[in-house]
Amino acid sequence: MKNNILIISGHTDTKTDSVANKRVLSMLEERMPEARIVYLDRLYPDFEIDAAAEQAKLLWADTIVLQFPVFWFSVPSIMHCWMEQTWLHGFSHGSTGDKLRGKKLILSYTTGAPAEAMNFEDFFQFIRAACGFCGMEYAGSVHTGGVSYQMRQDPQLLAEIEQKATAHAEKLIALLQEQA
Ligand SMILES: Cc1cc2nc3c(=O)[nH]c(=O)nc-3n(C[C@H](O)[C@H](O)[C@H](O)COP(=O)(O)O)c2cc1C
Repeated sequence: MKNNILIISGHTDTKTDSVANKRVLSMLEERMPEARIVYLDRLYPDFEIDAAAEQAKLLWADTIVLQFPVFWFSVPSIMHCWMEQTWLHGFSHGSTGDKLRGKKLILSYTTGAPAEAMNFEDFFQFIRAACGFCGMEYAGSVHTGGVSYQMRQDPQLLAEIEQKATAHAEKLIALLQEQA
């Protein structure tokens, strides 16, 4: 069965200010070359989302992955902006808005706080609600905690971030392969 995979990266600076998300995304590029990756920070540094172009990518996709660092217990603002400007009435919802129906949605996110510090899934109830509202199937999440900024200063801790991100990418790839 075909499974077109669309990965939306919501990191605000994947070129110079990311370790964990950058590693996850580069592993996906290498291991899943057939997947399409959208770097919102590179395409839309001014937040001027091209709704038609983004909707075309969504139409192509069977599985959509939201890849992001948690910012203030939520998705980064550029990712929220992308949702607001592409999941539009008549496209994703409303009496004629059925274009996301039947697609799968996966969350893939990293946090500075350790994974056991709190239940991060609680914060993403709004995404699961939006997913159900648009007729999509929530297909699960991959979360890696304890990849904070200050760890980057220490070479050993930096290596720990890289290892955690590698393990994260492996889990995400396995979850994506299960969707086929
Ligand atoms: C503006 C901002 C807000 C953040 N808010 C949170 C937060 O609410 N909870 C948390 O655990 N980490 C928070 N962090 C830490 C990031 O989630 C963490 O640095 C990121 O996941 C690391 O990924 P990266 O190496 O790809 O940048 C925040 C970081 C920034 C810059």
